Amino acid sequence: MKLILIGFGVVGQGFAEILRDKGSELQRKHNFTAEIVGVVTASKGSLYRSSGLDITSLLEAAEGGSFDDYPSQPGLRRDLAASEMIAAREADALVEVSPTNLETAQPALEYCHLALDAGMHLALANKGPVALDYATLREKARDKSLQMRYEATVMAGTPTMHLAEDALAGCVIRSARGILNGTTNYILTQMETGMSYDDALAQAQELGYAETDPSGDVEGWDAAGKLLILGNALFGRGFALADLEVSGITTISAGDIADAKAAGQRYKLIASATPAGGSVTATRLPLDDPLANVAGSTNAITLETDLMGDITLIGAGAGKLETGYAILSDLMAIERTAHRP
Ligand code: HSE
Repeated sequence: MKLILIGFGVVGQGFAEILRDKGSELQRKHNFTAEIVGVVTASKGSLYRSSGLDITSLLEAAEGGSFDDYPSQPGLRRDLAASEMIAAREADALVEVSPTNLETAQPALEYCHLALDAGMHLALANKGPVALDYATLREKARDKSLQMRYEATVMAGTPTMHLAEDALAGCVIRSARGILNGTTNYILTQMETGMSYDDALAQAQELGYAETDPSGDVEGWDAAGKLLILGNALFGRGFALADLEVSGITTISAGDIADAKAAGQRYKLIASATPAGGSVTATRLPLDDPLANVAGSTNAITLETDLMGDITLIGAGAGKLETGYAILSDLMAIERTAHRP
């Protein structure tokens, strides 16, 4: 499978590390091989080589901050824009791992449309296109017998979308409720041990949990974006941000956390949705609520279904390899199902 990556930050590099370290195992066990032919970034430059880029050199160049340090190779281009790489029609899938924009979804949305028009599958970690233009992208993909997958957009590689869309395909999902942002859960957990808000946020950024602009995490918008995606994917309902009540954790003080602790409670940023709408709100939970014990960057979601009752999934919500894995799992799913007779 030949891939073009838009973006090469934490998630893109995590995915590339997985390909570097597990490439031969994936080929041996699953007959899965992936080659990165193009990478476009806002700050490091761009690289394209139709016969494949060297992943180790790519990761080394990215670590140094510029693709100028990527060694020369026959057929290597350093001057192509994303649209030109897509137009070359040599790649099988576009991997969108650039920063999320929940207001316009651009420029990612345009690349997603160009890629589908050029016959490429989509695997996204970028939440913007899935949150804002799901119905159109989905229909275009179906018309062209292509796939759009976005496991990374909700709970990193914890298989939330695979569970909801594949494993539970015959159930009606009535509601979803959980902890959907790793950064804020990490901050709240650290603050309970006495760490300051600023130090905890700095750590969450260092660990690669936070978005490029972390205000979206701490003000609740990242979790809200995930609810837009769940609204589309679980309920077939294209929510707008205006349909959701959104607040974050910026007003929760060390004193509030201590008060909750003294009362046998714990603050969690709870996101919930039904087909009628949803909310993201910092909530004091009793310690015997299972969500109260989901700590650090871990996320959790409970899906209420018609045939299976409640199903709860707990796992990584953010992180380099954890989100990189989501891209791998999407591409493997595409490979498994796209060539079915
Ligand atoms: N910033 C996000 C979070 C990354 O903290 O959950 C995963 O979507």
